[in-house]
Amino acid sequence: MAFIDLAKQRYSARKYQDKPVEKELLLQVLEAGRIAPSAKNKQPWHFVVITNEEILSDISDCYARNWLKTAKCIIVVCGDHHQAWRRADGKSHTDVDVAIAIDHMTLAATDLGLATCWICKFDVIKCAETLDLPEGVEPIALIPVGYPADNENCKQQAKLRKSIKEIVHWDKFYYKPFKR
Ligand SMILES: Cc1cc2nc3c(=O)[nH]c(=O)nc-3n(C[C@H](O)[C@H](O)[C@H](O)COP(=O)(O)O)c2cc1C
Repeated sequence: MAFIDLAKQRYSARKYQDKPVEKELLLQVLEAGRIAPSAKNKQPWHFVVITNEEILSDISDCYARNWLKTAKCIIVVCGDHHQAWRRADGKSHTDVDVAIAIDHMTLAATDLGLATCWICKFDVIKCAETLDLPEGVEPIALIPVGYPADNENCKQQAKLRKSIKEIVHWDKFYYKPFKR
């Protein structure tokens, strides 16, 4: 599949089939995350893969929406603030690096016929406690991975994006309000 078609096919799935994801497929998704680029190649990430029912239940309790309970696998993607590269002005690149790894994984999952969703609006403290995360390791996103059970409307929603004209600036930033 052409890359642009794969990128367009990925969408946020918010309902999953009651069917576990094969470990072989999960390993392929994780491999895509492992090879992601990162600032100064620091790779400041950990992928906590949850398939145990009890822990899945505890992690989905960290998020206020019931649909997460349908997921048979959740990857908690964590950033290691002690490992990440910091620019001279002090800016940590943990979030940037972790986002790239997640994007690799969500696209790899799509390529394998699986679906995913980014979740950042969760109880970070409860999640860190549940997983016994060490100090400096922050859970940045919950990524359910599974066989989707939602309908076509969800996929249509995914196509709602700003136009190229609204977001692209050639040579210098263009302040004039965009007219449709
Ligand atoms: C950084 C980030 C955080 C997000 N957090 C949540 C979340 O907490 N809950 C949720 O349902 N979706 C979340 N999303 C999914 C977005 O709502 C979704 O990507 C966006 O609406 C575009 O839809 P699409 O992914 O289907 O293309 C998040 C996405 C990103 C990139």
